[in-house]
Amino acid sequence: MNAARWNERYGAEAYVYGTEPNQFFKEQLDQLAPGRILLPADGEGRNAVYAATQGWEVFAFDQSKAGQEKALALADQQGVTITYDVFDSPQLPYLTAHFDAIALIYAHFQPEIRSIFHRKFAELVRPGGIIILEAFNKGHIPYKQANPSVGGPGNLQVLMSLEELQDDFAGFNLVMGADEVIELAEGDYHRGQGSVVRYIGKKN
Ligand SMILES: C[S@@+](CC[C@H](N)C(=O)[O-])C[C@H]1O[C@@H](n2cnc3c(N)ncnc32)[C@H](O)[C@@H]1O
Repeated sequence: MNAARWNERYGAEAYVYGTEPNQFFKEQLDQLAPGRILLPADGEGRNAVYAATQGWEVFAFDQSKAGQEKALALADQQGVTITYDVFDSPQLPYLTAHFDAIALIYAHFQPEIRSIFHRKFAELVRPGGIIILEAFNKGHIPYKQANPSVGGPGNLQVLMSLEELQDDFAGFNLVMGADEVIELAEGDYHRGQGSVVRYIGKKN
């Protein structure tokens, strides 16, 4: 979906993926000492705001202006501060090796720029820092066909695989990589069984 469609979706009053953080992201973040984190494509900010409540210095971006507005409203409501920009290309202004962690939660970029984004994120993590990722994998299409409420891209090229991730994050040690079928209950747009890839990489 392009930025206009995301703006339309996020124009609703409700938070379409809810205001609670993604479960895998929360489980992983809760094991780390707070530092500086980047959340690309963070939509309405549920994960960015959670990280800020846990003491992280939070940077996030998305192509959607409506997402930014809702993320900042959620931060305000929870009494935390986040830096949230509207960016849509891998020409990002952050400093190299600046982040202790980058979290990619259903950050499905268009296939022609996904690897460029991922390789840029790899540069932005400091040595010893980590990437946390959960996304729909290439086995997801039958789950979406059986239950459209689970959401996710319908295009195989936009869905991810562990092999592609390991290629994009070549300078990272695989801490965890798994394809799993999970039950999602995130707002109205991630609801039901989906097929996902979960990845944790630690930079050398
Ligand atoms: C499924 S939503 C996930 C939102 C958020 N990460 C979450 O889990 O609640 C995917 C997000 O990716 C964003 N996105 C897709 N392509 C993008 C791009 N090129 N630049 C910035 N954001 C992008 C969309 O605007 C959308 O907010």
